[in-house]
Amino acid sequence: MKNILVTGGAGFIGSNFIHYLLENYGDIQVVNLDLLTYAGNLDNLADIREDGRYHFVRGDIHDRKLVEELFDAWTFDTVVNFAAESHVDRSITNPDIFLTTNVLGTQTLLDVAKKNWKLDPDDKYSREFKEGVKYLQVSTDEVYGALGPTGMFTETTPLAPNSPYSASKASADFVVRAYDKTYGMPVNITRCSNNYGPYQFPEKLIPLMINNCLADKNLPVYGDGMQIRDWLYVEDHCTAIATVLEKGRLGEVYNIGGNNERANIEIVKLILENTGKSEDLILHVKDRPGHDRRYAIDNTKITTELGWSPKYTFQTGMASTIEWYLQHKSWMDKIVSGEYMNYYETMYAGR
Ligand code: NAD
Ligand code: DAU
Repeated sequence: MKNILVTGGAGFIGSNFIHYLLENYGDIQVVNLDLLTYAGNLDNLADIREDGRYHFVRGDIHDRKLVEELFDAWTFDTVVNFAAESHVDRSITNPDIFLTTNVLGTQTLLDVAKKNWKLDPDDKYSREFKEGVKYLQVSTDEVYGALGPTGMFTETTPLAPNSPYSASKASADFVVRAYDKTYGMPVNITRCSNNYGPYQFPEKLIPLMINNCLADKNLPVYGDGMQIRDWLYVEDHCTAIATVLEKGRLGEVYNIGGNNERANIEIVKLILENTGKSEDLILHVKDRPGHDRRYAIDNTKITTELGWSPKYTFQTGMASTIEWYLQHKSWMDKIVSGEYMNYYETMYAGR
């Protein structure tokens, strides 16, 4: 791994991953291709702006000409695709952009990588690729759909996405699979559970609730709040991706999760307790349409085959997350003072 294209690196997980790369790999060049949608934030990368190994390019993963120019300039050996529309609620009100970015954007990246990495790009029957190249698609456990009270998602669980967001991610996974099966492209897919940690946009449960607590605003819990997610501290997701890049068998899917199932209401109460606020702030609101009741990830494959395991417990991860948001109020204030207010009013009005 020498020249790496990270897409969506100004978002939550992508920015954490770029920090992780620069801290843990000396001899590396990282190009961050990010469109800077509402979710992209260069403040997330302010401390590494001057690092000579880091290069930012504003642009769309669906812009083939731009992606080709970047490959010409950098001869990437690795692509990690984080770029996506990532919020389920937004996909319910505006699905179109989810399909464009998450499906067609992924296909553009794959196609340009294929052209650059095939030993003979003009021979349609050749499946020979350069040594040491890899495309990693950052996917999600949501592609598997919802679980009942028992069971876990394994890598062989059939895909059954329920929201426009998860349908777009599942579609992208199928396109990645097709590039492997048809062309022999060296790929991996990772499917991770819910992340939390620094730099997460406050449309997602944990930073939204922390922000509302600090502002003494109601905490909008969807339905009964008994929906269950598996939670993983973002740094553990980054180490898992790095592990798959280094050791993952080509063509394989790896689930990533923390064995850490929590009901939403439990998380909300924990945040209230840690910020010293009253449970009176909790407001049960209308449920998300098609809301997946429970996710749980079986991470046996990545732990036994690749030797990865999470470093953070939920207690240590949540403590450091809440502390980070308390220490970075200006980061949050800058976001919530802008367009975010309109988003919040529209998304939560009449709920
Ligand atoms: P995010 O919304 O915080 O960041 C997405 C980034 O992608 C932003 O910087 C945005 O500007 C950029 N982007 C959007 N459209 C683009 C385009 N067309 N071209 C280039 N850049 C574009 O998302 P996140 O939470 O960091 O998630 C990153 C990836 O991880 C996504 O693919 C998501 O599906 C996946 N994932 C997220 C979680 C989670 O809990 N957040 C869990 C599992 C998987
Ligand atoms: O499982 C991985 C997925 O986790 C990722 O693929 C997605 O990109 C990421 O957004 C996340 O999806 P969720 O829908 O699980 O995350 P969100 O933070 O939006 O919601 C978490 C749970 O909290 C979910 O059950 C809905 C609930 N919720 C969320 C918000 C924003 C509320 O009750 N109230 C809220 O205001």
